[in-house]
Amino acid sequence: MYNSFISGTGSYLPEKILSNKDLEDLVETNDQWITERTGIKTRHLASDSEATSDLAYHASQKAIQAADLKPTDIEMIILATVTPDQMMPSTACVVQERLGCKDVMAFDLTAACSGFLYALTIADQFIKAGTHKHILVIGAEALSRIINFKDRETCILFGDGAGAAVLSRAEQNSKSQVVSHHMRADGKLGHLLTLSAGGSRKPITHEILDNDDQYVEMKGREIFKYAIRTMASCCNHVLDSNKLNMNEIDWLIPHQANLRIIDAMAKQLNFPMEKIVVNLDHTGNTSAATIPIALDEAVREGKIQRGQNVLLTAFGAGLTSGSLLMRY
Ligand code: ACO
Repeated sequence: MYNSFISGTGSYLPEKILSNKDLEDLVETNDQWITERTGIKTRHLASDSEATSDLAYHASQKAIQAADLKPTDIEMIILATVTPDQMMPSTACVVQERLGCKDVMAFDLTAACSGFLYALTIADQFIKAGTHKHILVIGAEALSRIINFKDRETCILFGDGAGAAVLSRAEQNSKSQVVSHHMRADGKLGHLLTLSAGGSRKPITHEILDNDDQYVEMKGREIFKYAIRTMASCCNHVLDSNKLNMNEIDWLIPHQANLRIIDAMAKQLNFPMEKIVVNLDHTGNTSAATIPIALDEAVREGKIQRGQNVLLTAFGAGLTSGSLLMRY
């Protein structure tokens, strides 16, 4: 049995920035409301010529470089997204070709904002099985393509970006390793966050477009409560199964959806905000990309050090959720 560890991380945010002030010109809202209710000040938007694979490519290049590897060393690519370049081929295959990887297994994974943690969990199993040594795990989104910029309840929340990590086989006795994970999905609550058009049940028609049904719809208040409960519960589950408590965690990286969700979760876990990585003020919610972007920024800023206990936790459409504990 082998262990896996994160050997390199990378992230990419597109150049264009949309501020709360800019949003005031699009919908009836204001900087103060958005800041107080969400903690978000600015978010990045992909340009018209940038697709999810472009963001993913830049983040992946940095992660592979940080791991001191070449694209040809990568043995599998898992790309978590709800905004693929197109239905097929998968965005993972597009990235594989662009990076110049070998003809290794590559696929997209849909678990919305929990996607990166789901993908890490899968990659960990392949490394543990001993069949793979280096797996590229990506969370990448161009959410601005599926957001209705006339709906003030959703358009203020989301941004575009990508984060990536290389999960590699750990040396025997290495301090750095993925310790444990616990993923969930509760389909009964799927109706709280949907993008129902564009699939096999409701293909795009003129009528769909006339009704703006091609965009994300969300019951924000219900998701808010669920998010706090499920992230705290997933964290406790992972800690309990490893006989650890929150005092032994050096850093917590939650899905970056709303500062008030993070704050309430921290209170439930009795965990200090100073040890929580928060970057949503300048990224907004980038769905599957929030955790790998926050992880990469914290690593590059020198906050997260090798050997520290890092707990990741997420929730998203599905509704999916989960926590993953690693010694970085
Ligand atoms: N600007 C100004 N006022 C607004 C805005 C806005 N952008 N949006 C809503 N309001 C108004 C509402 O109409 C309402 O007015 P009313 O009292 O006259 O009816 C008032 O503000 C309060 O609205 P609430 O919905 O109760 O506001 P709340 O404090 O719940 O905040 C928010 C809304 C930010 C959406 C919050 O519920 C939230 O963050 N929920 C979680 C959303 C989330 O995380 N989604 C993604 C999860 S999964 C994934 O990441 C893909």
